[in-house]
Amino acid sequence: MSVLVTGGAGYIGSHTAVELLDSGFDVVVVDNLCNSNRESLRRVEALTGKKLTFIEGDICDANWLDQVFASHNIDSVIHFAALKAVGESVSRPIDYYHNNVSGTLALLAAMNKAGVSKLVFSSSATVYGSSAKVPYREDQATGGTTNPYGSSKLIIENMLLDCAKANPALSVAMLRYFNPIGAHESGLIGEDPQGIPNNLMPFIAQVAVGKRSQLSVFGGDYNTPDGTCLRDYLHVVDLAVGHVQALDWVANNQGAKPFNLGTGNGTSVLEMIAAFEAASGVKIPYEIVPRREGDLEGFWADSRLAEQELGWKAKLSLERMMIDTWRWQHGNPNGYLPS
Ligand code: NAD
Ligand code: WQD
Repeated sequence: MSVLVTGGAGYIGSHTAVELLDSGFDVVVVDNLCNSNRESLRRVEALTGKKLTFIEGDICDANWLDQVFASHNIDSVIHFAALKAVGESVSRPIDYYHNNVSGTLALLAAMNKAGVSKLVFSSSATVYGSSAKVPYREDQATGGTTNPYGSSKLIIENMLLDCAKANPALSVAMLRYFNPIGAHESGLIGEDPQGIPNNLMPFIAQVAVGKRSQLSVFGGDYNTPDGTCLRDYLHVVDLAVGHVQALDWVANNQGAKPFNLGTGNGTSVLEMIAAFEAASGVKIPYEIVPRREGDLEGFWADSRLAEQELGWKAKLSLERMMIDTWRWQHGNPNGYLPS
């Protein structure tokens, strides 16, 4: 069984490639490397002892995508390729809508031509917007997204629902990730943000290796137990396993359906710092600064639907997320670039 993985050289894609190869799938990765490094896939091969096929290119290029499908016998697709920086999406909306929305349209058209009808899509908890109640459930309304990145994910979900209505053979699992962190326990692959990290976990990890002097904690006056925001952090390997289970779901179901992938726990920023310090033995200097615009006070997942229908449940603890993050960052202070 061959799986086409768009964006497979990236953070979540590379971890998913490991789980796919370990589960016996043939893996074809397409990626334009706009936010990743070819080295991640070499390491995927090294740690699984298996080969994958890598084709460099842009999913917005419809003719090229047609050739990819024509020259490989693809059974299903996992679609990670997207631009994902929230702040950047506000200043570059055209790029974000073009890459994420037009890229997905090109992919859907190519799948249609090639007769491939099974798709797992990387959605996000961000589609719930600011008015949803915690824990988020899939039957709650989506909408009220506050930036082009989040809006692009919501537009794609709606496109996929429309396509599935029009084509009863189509089967799509729309996985709404909460906050993926951590790294493979081998320490060979992990998150490698370009420039200053936008997200909490890679920022903490870069402070720990001395690449940043201190962490700014965005807001200490939220209505939460310690005043800092709560998020549902999940281990990237649990998330990767969820994609393998979602492939089974799309093979046996029709229609487009959203699934939350989270742990169900809300953890504060200060608890994250303490958990990292305990796992690494490294002190993280921090300062509480004003709130970051657009941040929500707290949200976490109700993932019972994923448990019932995909057979998926997050297993790895916060301590494991921290130990694995530290092993990756300590062993690769410059990510995939040579030290
Ligand atoms: P990432 O940037 O590490 O990986 C995305 C990959 O897609 C990169 O390798 C990039 O080079 C590639 N890519 C982007 N545009 C492309 C294009 N037009 N053609 C070919 N390749 C292209 O990001 P990630 O964290 O692994 O995220 C994967 C997916 O999960 C994205 O769709 C993202 O929006 C979604 N997601 C991520 C998070 C998170 O916190 N990391 C949370 C929710 C959802
Ligand atoms: C987590 C918490 C910050 C950095 C974003 C996207 C979302 C999704 C995942 C893709 C918040 C605080 C952070 C820092 C801090 N991506 N923080 N100092 O904002 O929950 O979600 O990534 O779909 O769409 O919005 O994650 O890691 O940026 O922040 O205090 O330097 O850490 O305020 O409370 P977020 P995050």
